[in-house]
Amino acid sequence: MIYLDNAATTFKKPDIVYDAVMDTLKNNAGNPSRGSNRIALAASRKIFESRQRVAEFFNVKNSDEIIFTKNATEASNLILKGLLEAGDHIIISSLEHNAIYRPLNRLQQELGIELTIVDTEVAKVDFLSQVERAIREETKLLAVTHASNLTGNILPVKDLGELAQQKGIAFLVDAAQSAGTLEVNVEELKADFVIFTGHKGFFGPPGVGGAYINAEFELLPLLEGGSGGNSKQKLNPDLVPDKYESGTLNTPAIAGLGAGIEFINDISLENIREHKQELLKRTTSGLEEIAGLRILDSKISQRRVGIVAFKIEGLESAAIGDLLDKEYEIAVRTGLHCAPLAHQSLDSYDQGAVRISFSYFNTVQEVELFLEAVNEITTKRRY
Ligand SMILES: Cc1ncc(COP(=O)(O)O)c(C=O)c1O
Repeated sequence: MIYLDNAATTFKKPDIVYDAVMDTLKNNAGNPSRGSNRIALAASRKIFESRQRVAEFFNVKNSDEIIFTKNATEASNLILKGLLEAGDHIIISSLEHNAIYRPLNRLQQELGIELTIVDTEVAKVDFLSQVERAIREETKLLAVTHASNLTGNILPVKDLGELAQQKGIAFLVDAAQSAGTLEVNVEELKADFVIFTGHKGFFGPPGVGGAYINAEFELLPLLEGGSGGNSKQKLNPDLVPDKYESGTLNTPAIAGLGAGIEFINDISLENIREHKQELLKRTTSGLEEIAGLRILDSKISQRRVGIVAFKIEGLESAAIGDLLDKEYEIAVRTGLHCAPLAHQSLDSYDQGAVRISFSYFNTVQEVELFLEAVNEITTKRRY
């Protein structure tokens, strides 16, 4: 099987991740922050170590500002629902994932927040000034993805962070597709919030993700309940991270995430990025030679993470995905990729597209086999 669906989740994990999960489950999975028996303390230590690793990765000085959730979606809900109030105005891009877009739609319906979507296709290189023009007095938050989960294009987050700071607006970066490939430095980006997920570029298992939440922001917790301490208090403690982490954490997955980051640090982000760029270059040049094939490209920047999405004239994307899986044993993702706004803006909303996405473990030979398969499918129009 050639696995090219790493933007959905990385399927092959480094051995140290498998080992960390199993070792934690077998030997260290007491209940963290609950009790002082040695197994509970071992679990707390595992979580502390992973929290430190995540904090270092994002260049966060105080690791208490790293909150563990079960994925990026929960992190997004925690921030958006904990921060926004009636009358607030929020700006997003057309490349946002439903993890951002849907909670905002809910808040629009329930609270009457106002949403401006800046279309990256319309704006292209003028994106920054279009965002600036959208800013109003009531604008509370600018929320953008670091890299599109559909086209792989990288947004100008550094410039956007500067703009947000100048205008006194909070800035949220969705790093679900960039963490593990690009540097995500909260200080450089001037980000107040970053959301991430463990199971994609970080190589962790599913079931863990999180957020960087600047401690200057006092959000309402998304969940309330047991935090392990201050049990006499009627409400969640004000202390972070406990305030936002009610309920028992997923210690084995968190340990796996920490091991994934250790692997990335050993290989280095630069090497991972270079390897993906090589695969990307070969893929795009191969795909561009296929008649009737269109690569979806939001043109907002020349730079991309290891993701390519395409459509082939006269062929249904879902059928291409099925053939790749059943006849060539190549796993890709078709459909709308939880990014309806992006498909609308790139004129692929009706049929969706075929998306392939790389991890460090993919090879050039796999790309060649994939290109041969797409060529063959296109030539024979077999569906
Ligand atoms: C850009 C982006 N944001 C958020 C998410 C949500 O991640 P999760 O499903 O782990 O919550 C994804 C997942 O595909 C994504 O690509």
